[in-house]
Amino acid sequence: ELEPLPLMTLDFLQILNEVCEQCYCDFAPDDVEVKVREHILQDFETFLRCQVPGAKLVLFGSSKNGFGFKQSDLDICMTLEGQDTAEGLDSMAVIESLAKALRKHHSLRNILPITTAKVPIVKFYHTKTGLEGDISLYNTLALHNTQLLASYAAIDARVKILCYVMKVFAKVCDIGDASRGSLSSYAYTLMVLYFLQQRSPPVIPVLQEMYVGEKKPVVLVDGWDVHFFSDLKNLHKYWPGYKKNKESVGQLWFGLLQFYTETFDFKETVVCIRRKEPLTTFKKQWTSKHLAIEDPFDLSHNLGAGLSRRMASFIMKAFINARRVFGSPVRDFPPEYPNKMEYF
Ligand code: CTP
Ligand code: MG
Repeated sequence: ELEPLPLMTLDFLQILNEVCEQCYCDFAPDDVEVKVREHILQDFETFLRCQVPGAKLVLFGSSKNGFGFKQSDLDICMTLEGQDTAEGLDSMAVIESLAKALRKHHSLRNILPITTAKVPIVKFYHTKTGLEGDISLYNTLALHNTQLLASYAAIDARVKILCYVMKVFAKVCDIGDASRGSLSSYAYTLMVLYFLQQRSPPVIPVLQEMYVGEKKPVVLVDGWDVHFFSDLKNLHKYWPGYKKNKESVGQLWFGLLQFYTETFDFKETVVCIRRKEPLTTFKKQWTSKHLAIEDPFDLSHNLGAGLSRRMASFIMKAFINARRVFGSPVRDFPPEYPNKMEYF
């Protein structure tokens, strides 16, 4: 049912490439915006410490993983000094007292504790910057996956650009909001990384399969192995594929759309960035799911688990549509190309 595409032209690939690079330039935060986030975090911590003794805050998510937008939310993780894990902690009580404390902060509004979710959080709105955010407790695995994503982002500029393009695509098509039944941006980032690992030659390695020495080290956090190769300065020594792939971002973006519409079999295969060898939905016992995306550390977590059949097909249609749009050469940008900011 996929329609055949006209031949891709070099001119068009050039345009596609420029569009992708432009997307990154338009949406990536600048140094000032990055500093503002750090400043807010510092301000919160100082403020909180008067009311919740020993409170420590760290930023994670797209503020730190290299795929942040100017308007991305502030994902903050809180821990308590002297307490290594959440064990024995009354999370609900801490969340409630955190919410109570935050209500006294003069630049915060809409404080909303959510204690029913898998990870209890307090949501907030920061009036000075217009940023939304949430504080979660001992979200340790998320801190580790933030580092993993940041490492992939640091390997090659094309990784970053493609992840931005993918996130913009998801936002524009309204398929990137897990709280409304679609997929989180984290899930789309994993899809991009998986594609880049499976590309031939690959653009990025599988960092979780790489190690120096005899035996693969195991680092357990919440019962899951969070080890990955992070010595990126020496990546060229340990990864034979280093800089082998020379495709442009435009080529890769179209390649990604082809991959997920023409090649990848969602029924059979799991999107899995922790190993090179394909992982089957059968092996995971995730065959009843429409779209299986395995978290790189919490292997029991399928990021596609919450998708309805309708939503999964809506997402697939967005990809099929994009394959046609980005795969049909035009001579130039359409003159009436809408102002990109109108989307947000
Ligand atoms: N996260 C996770 N598992 C999920 C969803 C999110 O571990 N199912 C973690 C990831 O570390 C993710 C972070 O929580 O990066 C924040 O999630 P979210 O704000 O939804 O995504 P971001 O990556 O921050 O992207 P955005 O720019 O859209 O905020
Ligand atoms: Mg976020």
